[in-house]
Amino acid sequence: MTELITAATEQTLQEFRTLHEIVRAAQKNLERNHWDYLIGGADTETAVVRNRAGVDSWVFRPRILNDVSQIQASTELLGTPLRIPVVLPPIGSVQVFDPLGGTGVARAAAEFGVLQILSSSCLPDFEEVAAEVPGPRIYQLYLMGDQGWMDDNISRAIEAGYTGFCLTADTQTYSRRERDLLKGFTPPSGRRPGNADFAHQARMTWDTVAHIKSDFDIPLVVKGVNVAEDARRCVELDVDVVYVSNHGGRQLDHTRSCIDALPEVVNAVDGRKPVVVDGGFLRGADVVKALCLGASAVGMGRLEGLAMAAGGSRALVQALEIIEREIHISMALLGADSLESLSPSMVEKTTPVIAPGVLSAFQLLSEDY
Ligand SMILES: Cc1cc2nc3c(=O)[nH]c(=O)nc-3n(C[C@H](O)[C@H](O)[C@H](O)COP(=O)(O)O)c2cc1C
Repeated sequence: MTELITAATEQTLQEFRTLHEIVRAAQKNLERNHWDYLIGGADTETAVVRNRAGVDSWVFRPRILNDVSQIQASTELLGTPLRIPVVLPPIGSVQVFDPLGGTGVARAAAEFGVLQILSSSCLPDFEEVAAEVPGPRIYQLYLMGDQGWMDDNISRAIEAGYTGFCLTADTQTYSRRERDLLKGFTPPSGRRPGNADFAHQARMTWDTVAHIKSDFDIPLVVKGVNVAEDARRCVELDVDVVYVSNHGGRQLDHTRSCIDALPEVVNAVDGRKPVVVDGGFLRGADVVKALCLGASAVGMGRLEGLAMAAGGSRALVQALEIIEREIHISMALLGADSLESLSPSMVEKTTPVIAPGVLSAFQLLSEDY
């Protein structure tokens, strides 16, 4: 651990010019178990690859000769200003990537100006993170107890100042992640297939959503939506954010890619609630594609983990700065000076040209730079 801390501290002083350098630094700093835990997925890992294939399969239809001298890419979600339309999704056991764990992510989110969704499966716990870094933040809870237990946690999250509550609905049981199983690695959260703790997660239903909405005054995010039917159900129950996700391909294998599920969900929600999406988004241009397809914001989970591993919160801020530049440049070259001017007519589906993979957004990794 000491070596990891020293390596991360050295990297903190480094000025990363590209995301490639951040990924490379993460690779160097992380021991094999933690690297595999970060980049791996469920079963065949097809859903991980398909997320990336999906993002690559949407291409731009740029417009020319619009004034793009001023680009406006800031927005808000649940009343929290976002400097760019990006959220930092919940990452369990994030403390294995950087010793500050959830607090490190909180610091980066606050310094840069995006919204963090803190996992209940990481250290420090949600009350400590809130005390260390006050400010708007969403708390994502896995149900590890009965309704009384859940209610107590939601009340404590409200008390601690959380501005949103997130139910992750794609994890009613824990998947088989073979990279971890083969090496006998269990993340510090203790999550593994067959874990008895998941009994409560497995019993979660739409009644759970209705109960939270009726008994608590905190905006509710349902994460893990993939189809129009469930999106409509969320809207009927007045869920505040519909979050399209397949857990980064770490839960149900062979799901559709999230960007491909997005248009159907956006259509079903029909502007009544914000739609957030994650899964395979690693570049500013990727974010812009999702915005064209109607997302209000995009989650970048593995990028968050990679940046934390590369150099803690400082590296995460730098990664977000690079993403911001990429978003601004993509929008300018697309002929869009504001988020409002992005539209589905600016993208179309085609055949990807790069062999997709979890890190295929970084084609120079194998080259000698
Ligand atoms: C290492 C790791 C841990 C994760 N832990 C959680 C978690 O505790 N809760 C949750 O809702 N999602 C969790 N996720 C899923 C992310 O919140 C997000 O949905 C996913 O990373 C998005 O895909 P991407 O990594 O391709 O951006 C985790 C993802 C990773 C990579």
